[in-house]
Amino acid sequence: MRVTATTDAPPATDADTIVVGVFEDDGIKHDHSGGLQALVDSGEAKRGLRKLAVTHADGRRYIVAGLGGRDDFGPEEARVVAAAVLGRAKELGTTTLCWEVPHHVSDAVVAGLVEGTLLAAYTYREFKEPESGGIDALILSAHHELNPAAAVAGAEATNRARDLQNRPANVLTPSALAERAAELSGVSVEVLDRAGLEAAGMGAFAAVARGTEEEPRLITISYAPADAVGPHLGFVGKAVTFDSGGISIKPAAKMHEMKFDMSGGAAVLEAVGAIAALSLPVRVTGVVGATENLPDGRAMKPGDIVRAKNGVSIEINNTDAEGRLVLADCLTHAIDQGAERLVDLATLTGAMVVALGRTYAGLLSSDDEWAGAVQAAGERAGEISWRLPLHDEYDEMIKGRYADIVNSTAERGAGGITAAQFLKRFVGDVPWAHLDIAGTAYDNKKPYTPVGGAGFGVRTLIELARG
Ligand code: BES
Ligand code: MN
Ligand code: ZN
Repeated sequence: MRVTATTDAPPATDADTIVVGVFEDDGIKHDHSGGLQALVDSGEAKRGLRKLAVTHADGRRYIVAGLGGRDDFGPEEARVVAAAVLGRAKELGTTTLCWEVPHHVSDAVVAGLVEGTLLAAYTYREFKEPESGGIDALILSAHHELNPAAAVAGAEATNRARDLQNRPANVLTPSALAERAAELSGVSVEVLDRAGLEAAGMGAFAAVARGTEEEPRLITISYAPADAVGPHLGFVGKAVTFDSGGISIKPAAKMHEMKFDMSGGAAVLEAVGAIAALSLPVRVTGVVGATENLPDGRAMKPGDIVRAKNGVSIEINNTDAEGRLVLADCLTHAIDQGAERLVDLATLTGAMVVALGRTYAGLLSSDDEWAGAVQAAGERAGEISWRLPLHDEYDEMIKGRYADIVNSTAERGAGGITAAQFLKRFVGDVPWAHLDIAGTAYDNKKPYTPVGGAGFGVRTLIELARG
């Protein structure tokens, strides 16, 4: 969808559908068709958030969109109402949609309208007939100049991450993910294969990859602009392109969903691509750990002991706790690359889905200030997180009998926390935040997110780089 901004009034554009918003306790500002205020007065067009009414005048369609209370109308409300409008406009056969931007709203709200439209318009049809029709242009009409470029870049990067997520595991292999990374411009990309992982001493990551004939990939994406300011950011993503559980195999019922176990890696990859495309003045290294987790003849077995790159020995008591093994070596690698602040994104634990459902991602961090920055960036992006604690007592739960630590605790409880407590052993004293996106990465039922991949985390990382 092409997105442009104009200071022309909506009727002066070539839009076939014009959206005019109305706040509670307010009227229509510019009654272009002459009948919009009457529609509101009659009660047919309602002011509540997401309420829509349609009318026609001068050979065009008008959608009157309820915006709710002005004081409550923030970026997330803008995304939500824009998604509702997009849905209705699609049904009506709109090809060019023009939003009359409500007066006196912030740039973040304008960005929300753009994001909500582009995110809601996303469909994944690679293996189906393409949809006929569809909206090809969005015009923002406002009294002042607007620049929607950053919002467009964030939404399009989110949609590209969704494409990677939705692709089945027989297509989106670790090497396919590395090929996608190689397409990014403005960054340099380095890739390690199985032999490279083993040679680098990444025994934890390599153990996961042993159970599959599909080649693993450690993808390092480096963005180093000359005008970089602030700390070197390290973004680390879990990209298990299919998680069968390995020898500790998962039940069949929902196993197909485990093609989404690469969601953190997809978010990192597309976020760094967007940060480079926007030329943000910040040094970023993206590290994506990509492998399948399968139970082949050479697969890691419960009880196996491996050594991670930082020297820590790990008893693998459950081969389904593979994400933390991959991330362990990826975090060490990010620090070796010079990262001074770390964020990892991972569909890491079912326990996090039990704790927070699909609304909040779990946030665990070794540093209050950095946790605050990550949480605030997520808030701006509409990707909210809830902080959970780390504590030395949880360290007792991951103590190993035969090695330094275990990848899966004997005692039940606090599964999302003990996973993070495990990761903490690999970050040294670099400020680090872990986002467990198991509940939010796909099927998160946001009004602007179709079923399947949500692209969760892409815009949080872009916001972090911007801040
Ligand atoms: N990829 C899964 C976590 C997951 C579960 C993501 C459901 C999305 C939805 C992860 O690799 C896993 O299997 N974790 C185990 C850890 C356990 C064995 C300690 C889990 O959560 O059951
Ligand atoms: Mn698993
Ligand atoms: Zn997994």
